[in-house]
Amino acid sequence: GSIRPRQTPWWQAPARQQRLLELAAQGTPAYVYDLDKVRERARQLNAISAIDRRFYAIKANSHPQILRTLAAEGFGLECVSQGEVELVFASVPDISPERVLFTPSFAPITEYQAVLARGVNVTVDNVELLQNWPEVFRGRKLWLRIDLGHGDGHHKKVNTGGKESKFGLSALRVDEFIAAARALDIRITGVHAHLGSGIENSGHWKQMVDEMAGFARRIGSVEILDIGGGLPVPYSDDDEPFDLEAWAAGLADIKAVHPAFQLAIEPGRFMVAECGVLLTHATQVVEKDGVRRVGLDAGMNALLRPALYDAWHDIANLSRLGDARDVDFSVVGPICESSDVFAQRVKLPAATAHGDVMLIADAGAYGFSMASTYNQRALPREDIIDA
Ligand code: LLP
Repeated sequence: GSIRPRQTPWWQAPARQQRLLELAAQGTPAYVYDLDKVRERARQLNAISAIDRRFYAIKANSHPQILRTLAAEGFGLECVSQGEVELVFASVPDISPERVLFTPSFAPITEYQAVLARGVNVTVDNVELLQNWPEVFRGRKLWLRIDLGHGDGHHKKVNTGGKESKFGLSALRVDEFIAAARALDIRITGVHAHLGSGIENSGHWKQMVDEMAGFARRIGSVEILDIGGGLPVPYSDDDEPFDLEAWAAGLADIKAVHPAFQLAIEPGRFMVAECGVLLTHATQVVEKDGVRRVGLDAGMNALLRPALYDAWHDIANLSRLGDARDVDFSVVGPICESSDVFAQRVKLPAATAHGDVMLIADAGAYGFSMASTYNQRALPREDIIDA
């Protein structure tokens, strides 16, 4: 298909640019999140009538103000650890437990116990949990995560389906699970699957719901099909923007085929990737063997995605936003690792120099939440822009 240019990023508006320069002066590296952008994404998904329940996957970005913003837009919150559940109740004290979903993977049983006591929805994804801790689960209403035998996503490291994957109950053990659940008087009300992150294949959704509905009918008591997250965002001008209208139309068709079930989604990236930028200062500009290299005070400790997944994030020189981007630079961080590279080659203004404020774009999802203090570097600061 034709490649449409992406929306002009919010941070290029002159007023925003000024504000970002002020925030950068308070110290970098710093993540900055624009809450209006988060609300815009929430409202886009709220407008899709085929979706009955929306949970935000807080692992993408668990800043309390983002949690409160999305809760205020009617979103539930999906958590993968007891720590995330506690953060949700601390950040959004009035949230009803029905709007919280716990979808752990190999969590200690003590976390299941603590979270079940909170009354939130809990997803189990294997038979062994019921066999080893029957009294924890007896008589409960639970959701079941199934491995549909195939996965997807922007990189093999975010593919969560198939034999090699640790996630979900094997289709081969569904009958065994049903028998174990019956014996414990457990009612399975939701079937869950999440096959990967950053899914571009538009046929994915229909295929997965058809497959999930088959399992749901075998189980019998299922009301909800939770199709996970995985909505992509365009990180570069070469990426096709996600066609939300086509996706919504596809879901409406799916709903028409499977009217017995409510549909739930759990997007993370889509909600917050574009709301966030990482501000950093250039530390040094160095020429070596014909390569011009600009170093930043943010490295893979601040934003791991390029090092871990070869992910692309656009990089701009905020101090020289009006200058032509006409010279190739390699952009690197201060960490003692060869993978501490944000871009092998990106066009930046020729005058780019130490002290310039550099901006790494679309960093709101899996940015701060995956940051570390490797090399004894401080965690990035976080700032919010709200209108
Ligand atoms: N639901 C479950 C059960 C998940 O495991 C995830 C993400 C989501 C929902 C949200 O997926 P999203 O809509 O964000 O694709 N760190 C990687 C992504 C890992 C995703 C892990 N699970 C990255 O930066 O690309």
